Amino acid sequence: MSEELVQRAEAVAARAYAPYSNYEVGAVVRTVDGRDFEGVNVENAAYPLGVCAEKSALVAAVAAGYGPGRVAAIGITASPCGGCRQWLHEFRIPEVSFRRDDGTIATYEASALLPDTWNLPDP
Ligand code: THU
Repeated sequence: MSEELVQRAEAVAARAYAPYSNYEVGAVVRTVDGRDFEGVNVENAAYPLGVCAEKSALVAAVAAGYGPGRVAAIGITASPCGGCRQWLHEFRIPEVSFRRDDGTIATYEASALLPDTWNLPDP
């Protein structure tokens, strides 16, 4: 599944809106019941307002009713940035796969991508 999801993400990346960096990223979220949600990075002329592909795929899944515990996997074209790792942790995603620079596929549990993760303390 991991290689297939990364390949799907690579196809989706062609729809990124990245005129400032020219760095196109794609992501595909797969839910526990087998639905797929696509995301791309969407940049903005006010640079910090841009959104990463992983976040836009997760936003689409949540809007369709899928929250933490209901996301089985995500495939990404490249290693997720630090901020996206916190998002992946939030959704407790068991399988996070991405293409390494050397062309191989890496697969981790979200928790392994962010050791000793910060959590909101109980009230
Ligand atoms: N980007 C992502 O979409 N995901 C990441 O995990 C890393 C970075 C995007 C943000 C920006 O549009 C472009 O890649 C260059 O940083």
